[in-house]
Amino acid sequence: MFNLIYKNGFIFLIVSLILVSCHSKQSSEKQIRSISMGETIDHIQFDYMPFPEGYGYMENLKALQQATDNNNTQVIRAHAWSLWAGIMQPVDGLGWPIWYTWPNTKGAFAVTEKQLMAAKTRNSKVPKSINTKKGASLRAVNKTNRQSAHAPAVDTPSPIYKVPKAVVTEFPGAICQTSSGGKTICDGEHFVNNGDIMIPTESLSMEAMQDIRGNKLYLKSTLDAAHQEGKPMINVTNRFVVTKHMYWPVKAEGITVIPVWKDNYPDSFTGYAGYEFWDTLVALEPSNPDSVGTQVEGAFLYHVLNNEGTEVIPTVRGEAKVFSINDFYHHKVTQADWDSFDEADKAIITAASYWANDQPFEVGDYLISIAMHVNTKELESWTLQSVWWSDTPNIGMYAQNRPVLPQAQGPWDHYLLTDAYAVPAINGQVKKAVNPYIEGVIHPIATNCRNCHVRAGWPQNKASYQNAGCPDLLADLTPQSQCLQGITLSDYLWIIPDRAQ
Ligand code: HEC
Repeated sequence: MFNLIYKNGFIFLIVSLILVSCHSKQSSEKQIRSISMGETIDHIQFDYMPFPEGYGYMENLKALQQATDNNNTQVIRAHAWSLWAGIMQPVDGLGWPIWYTWPNTKGAFAVTEKQLMAAKTRNSKVPKSINTKKGASLRAVNKTNRQSAHAPAVDTPSPIYKVPKAVVTEFPGAICQTSSGGKTICDGEHFVNNGDIMIPTESLSMEAMQDIRGNKLYLKSTLDAAHQEGKPMINVTNRFVVTKHMYWPVKAEGITVIPVWKDNYPDSFTGYAGYEFWDTLVALEPSNPDSVGTQVEGAFLYHVLNNEGTEVIPTVRGEAKVFSINDFYHHKVTQADWDSFDEADKAIITAASYWANDQPFEVGDYLISIAMHVNTKELESWTLQSVWWSDTPNIGMYAQNRPVLPQAQGPWDHYLLTDAYAVPAINGQVKKAVNPYIEGVIHPIATNCRNCHVRAGWPQNKASYQNAGCPDLLADLTPQSQCLQGITLSDYLWIIPDRAQ
């Protein structure tokens, strides 16, 4: 059954590729097309670029497994760095990185009313969300995984980002309702809504997309059935790659300042550690290359409320060293790009620009890569790695073990990298592995990718960040851990329980 759907999807893909290549002979415009996959929801995107050769993806997996078993940091981190550099390579003629051509969570978990009806029992109704455009930012989705009964010690009260009025007015079709009736921005075709200045995309390899669509992992009914059958784990294909990439909006004119991480909190800190409260700034002034290296005054963070919603958090002002835009992976947004974004994409980027720079985003402005997670199922226990930009990229443990990648374009070595492969634990504990930008705004700072992702599963009321049976955020959990029994694990993937419809 699965094979059939998979093949159909694939044949359809080939057919669309042929159609597109015929079409492109007639027109020199940038090609945007719809791919239908398996069970089919159209997903607008560019021609799919697979993971490039020469960056170790799916190569020497036996050696990688051995290195993981033996905690060979050099081999593990060289692989992790290569995956990051590889997936950021620019696509010829497109000016976007490879992952941008990939399907993403919006398309992977989309359902039509008909599909949802078909998946439901006769007596149950289609949830209202289909009609009323419900939505939730990633910040909000994350909170729902942190059940207070399970996680009494973990509290990260975050600032509140209300959708700016100008965004509501300009992009009315992009506004979704939160579960409590408030306004939020819906997820877009290319970018999802983080609920703050960062602009995320969770992209999926084609094989990952086909797995989710072909096996109907986007439906709660599939997860329910697996759980009722007592399945301990929903296994996905070993060619599953999933990322979470964060852009930050930068104005073409004037000074944009960006907060940078300086190990601001001790591991014992369990409160909110988001970028709003870091104390170091760097600046970008793309229209004035002569300013690189100088110190300037700058400001960021506008119209953001404290956790109680009672006061505006003061705009952060200070001195910042100017860096070159070329020190960041960046994309200058063209008119054609802007036209290819849907209303929600535009609303997400515009809101981010208001919160960061108190100005709307305009064609010609930049999106810069500030942080990225890359997870692959090359190993049964996954490879988990994450990077963030740094003004001191050659200092400290997160700078270590960079391989030489002469073919890699772009400033991949201006970032720091952490990894969370399944290496033997020491005294039952794994090391801290977090991305300060991404985890800082949603999780306590002393956590570990693996410890948290292995908990992902179904049903939602059993799987959470801190199951009562295993509260330790740095414990060496595996799918076999006692406290995860009785849950149908979703193979280290939180998007599945979070987003299934
Ligand atoms: C305390 C829990 C927690 C920690 C720690 C954590 N994550 Fe996640 N992560 C999540 C949740 C929840 C989501 C789902 C967001 C959504 O619904 O889109 C997620 C999403 C992701 C995704 C998108 C695919 C997926 O599995 O949902 C990637 C990739 C990812 N995280 C990588 C990492 C990496 C790498 C680290 C470590 C640097 C990390 N995460 C740390 C909870 C965590």
